[in-house]
Amino acid sequence: MATRCGQMASMVEEETTPARYAVMGNPVAHSKSPQIHRHFAHQSGHDIEYTALWVDVDGFREAVEQFRDEGGKGLNITVPFKLEAFQLADNLSDRAKLAGAVNTIRFEPDGKIFGDNTDGTGLVHDLAKNLGVQLRNKKILVLGAGGAARGVLGPLLRQNPAVLVIVNRTVSKARELAKIFEPIGKVEACGYEELVGKRFDVVINGTSASLKGEMPPLPVNLFANNAVAYDMMYGDKPTPFLEWAMLHGATIAVDGLGMLVEQAAESYLLWRGVRPETKHIIMALRKGG
Ligand code: ATR
Repeated sequence: MATRCGQMASMVEEETTPARYAVMGNPVAHSKSPQIHRHFAHQSGHDIEYTALWVDVDGFREAVEQFRDEGGKGLNITVPFKLEAFQLADNLSDRAKLAGAVNTIRFEPDGKIFGDNTDGTGLVHDLAKNLGVQLRNKKILVLGAGGAARGVLGPLLRQNPAVLVIVNRTVSKARELAKIFEPIGKVEACGYEELVGKRFDVVINGTSASLKGEMPPLPVNLFANNAVAYDMMYGDKPTPFLEWAMLHGATIAVDGLGMLVEQAAESYLLWRGVRPETKHIIMALRKGG
């Protein structure tokens, strides 16, 4: 009886107060996540509140625990806290373990923290569903060997590409990643100078170069026929990598806005049990809505 009353009480609470979610980061003011999740909630008929929370670099754990203790249901985690979120989680999804980072937290009924990573799945969804790019038997090049690149390698390799090459200025970091992901698929590591003479069907920029308005040192003739250039970053105008790709033979050059929306949809699924429709939201965001 007591359990049933408890359940009813929490159902009533759910009906009368919006379920609380947030993205935590530093900086976080320009995050599009609140806008995206408002679209999702509207579409699903859910009553949720989703805010962007700036967190002091030394105050991540306290902020997460406070949010939970005040009744929050889940969080998205962005720069620079994805690694700390990984360490803080009580339980991790397999894809979070592989990524070595957490971008989505769900608070379990007993207060435990479940950590997931939806970035790579988001990227694969954007490529396959929104852009019609199949990765099976394709030659994929991933630029960079930092946290952003690592986060997408597992889901990319699970699509069974012919090969996935990780290139990085600091080659040792690319090699370390290749070693971790070897059990999942055919993965190689190299430096930029070793790319000369090689061609790829899909080139994904996972470096932080675009953030600084820089361009990784890529050789010409990198793109195979009908190749796709994808920048995991997004902004108001094309990144230097995307501009370069269009000039050097890529057929499609696209930024990471679709990935952002798709990873958000995967988070929403984890929290609410519904995967929202994303295509119209991506279109609306591209038009500034
Ligand atoms: P993130 O978590 O965003 O991935 P990170 O872990 O600091 O950030 O990694 C940044 C990645 O971008 C690294 O792979 C870095 O290369 P190095 O490891 O050789 O430093 C890469 N990077 C940054 N600026 C770059 C540039 N101008 N050209 C090529 N690679 C760059």
